[in-house]
Amino acid sequence: MKNIVVLVSGGGTNLQALIDAQESGIIKNGKITCVISSKEGAYALERAKKHGISTKVIARKEYSDSISYSHAILDALNEEKADLVVYAGFMTILDELVVKAYPNRMMNVHPALIPSFCGKGYYGLKVHEEALKKGVKLTGATVHFVTEVCDGGPIILQKAVAVEYGDTPEILQKRVMEQAEWKILPQAVSLFCEDKLEVVGSAVHIKD
Ligand code: GAR
Repeated sequence: MKNIVVLVSGGGTNLQALIDAQESGIIKNGKITCVISSKEGAYALERAKKHGISTKVIARKEYSDSISYSHAILDALNEEKADLVVYAGFMTILDELVVKAYPNRMMNVHPALIPSFCGKGYYGLKVHEEALKKGVKLTGATVHFVTEVCDGGPIILQKAVAVEYGDTPEILQKRVMEQAEWKILPQAVSLFCEDKLEVVGSAVHIKD
């Protein structure tokens, strides 16, 4: 059974999708053992507690720089004996020292079809604002392995979602979450836990 540690910063709807998938048996061979938040008071922490999952707050604002914060996160991951680390709305960029300690064992859900609308500064609603500004007809979500390049790691799963006339960033965000993020994140976690993901160069092969 693999230990899954989920990193969050906010509302935690993607965490909820993972908890639901775990409880309905979709995630085989894996268990969420800890939820770590970069912010005190994040609603994601309540979601974890309601389901008996242990929580930790490692507040970014209590650390003066990214390196000392990244060391604190790394210590917590090691303490939890994490096999898989999932960024589920985790809004802090960690130093590469964390990624190097967990190569191809950290994944992130991003609310766009990478390589569009991604990289530093593209997070949360901002991503949907930019997609609407550009006038794309299709957007979606991506789950990828985390590397030292922000949003640049090997892509595991993607799902497209239509942009509709009259969409606001909020409406589009909700559609992308419902139709894409909440589906592909649990799927990717499940595939990882069953050892079905193989990284070949910059691509991810899904084994039968
Ligand atoms: C989600 O849309 C997630 O993809 C996005 O933030 C939201 C968090 O929602 N993440 C990023 O933009 C990271 N670059 P949640 O807290 O309800 O899961």
